[in-house]
Amino acid sequence: FHTIDDLEMDGKVVLTRVDLNVPVENGQVTDSTRIEKIVPTVRAIQARGGIPVLLAHFDRPKGQRVDSMSLRQVVPALEAALGQPVTFAEDCIGGTAKRAVAALKKGDVGLLENTRFHAGEEANDATFAASLAALGGVFVNDAFSAAHRAHASTEGLARLLNAGAGLLMEAELKALDAALGHPQRPVMAVVGGAKVSTKLDLLTNLVEKVDHLVIGGGMANTFLVAKGVEVGKSLAERDMADTARAILEKAEATGCRIHLPVDIVVAREFKAGAENEVLPVAECPEDAMILDAGPQTVEALRQAMTACRTLIWNGPLGAFEIEPFDRATNAAAQAAAELTRAGSLVSVAGGGDTVAALNKAGASADFTFISTAGGAFLEWMEGKELPGVAALTAKVR
Ligand code: 3PG
Repeated sequence: FHTIDDLEMDGKVVLTRVDLNVPVENGQVTDSTRIEKIVPTVRAIQARGGIPVLLAHFDRPKGQRVDSMSLRQVVPALEAALGQPVTFAEDCIGGTAKRAVAALKKGDVGLLENTRFHAGEEANDATFAASLAALGGVFVNDAFSAAHRAHASTEGLARLLNAGAGLLMEAELKALDAALGHPQRPVMAVVGGAKVSTKLDLLTNLVEKVDHLVIGGGMANTFLVAKGVEVGKSLAERDMADTARAILEKAEATGCRIHLPVDIVVAREFKAGAENEVLPVAECPEDAMILDAGPQTVEALRQAMTACRTLIWNGPLGAFEIEPFDRATNAAAQAAAELTRAGSLVSVAGGGDTVAALNKAGASADFTFISTAGGAFLEWMEGKELPGVAALTAKVR
């Protein structure tokens, strides 16, 4: 794919797709990680004489103008991150956008209103994409986290203008390639989360690619059911047991070692501080539910991880959002952080819940790379081509 360095941008308006889909409460940005991550790209464009005009979506307004989904509310956080004022245009196409863009000089930064206020964005409509393209000279895509969407501002535009990846997009792709494309082996994948059904493609792809697959969270229960283990009142998709068995068989054939809990933390209530006990996995009481992996499981995982060179992580190991069922996730995250610090492990993690869990464990700062992406990270791990990335390989005109 092409990068900023391949593009001639001196004196040109650079339409720059970023991901500003950040959490907002009462009109205030509560986590500006995604905003901070685009700053180097904006600076790089300015350093090359380009005038960055940011394009982004916010939430899912479904082609309608919805005031509570205006990008205006991220302007203060964006200005704080950039340390300069940002010119905001009330629309991303048409006269309003044109006038705002025309008033910008070298050194300025513009931001256009939510692209999803127009139905043409998600439809990847050619006329809408052309209206966006009319505003600028080149296109930079820095929104890896939206690259799984074939929308006008992620895919269509890249076909109309000379296009390249921004620095964040480049860093994301490099990190994922190091973790799963061309990794140092052995590779371990940790996959957690509630349901096998939502991560089926992921598990199927990973058993072909990694040496160790750790299955945690609610989906581990489904695998236990598949192995004939009683899981009491635990969350489990009993109708997915055959599918889970097929994944286990495939792993056997590919030489991927699957790690399931050997001991469990069970409780009778799903609430913070609920009375709980640690039991061997085969002894889950009928009236209890598994809410976390036990200490022996964590120790086995730590040992296997110590022998690995690469780790890719998506999904928590237990009900990490309520204490004390965050212990396995915390301990495993800390083990990964320690091995990374020691220089023996390349660790990459992604997905909203995962990043929250690693932050909670105090482990994220030590990870080699934390992706800003949720759905796109997952699709990449599933081995799918991301349309927003694929479009960046077109010839530079
Ligand atoms: C995200 O928040 O993961 C991206 O911005 C994509 O958002 P979407 O799921 O609404 O397309």
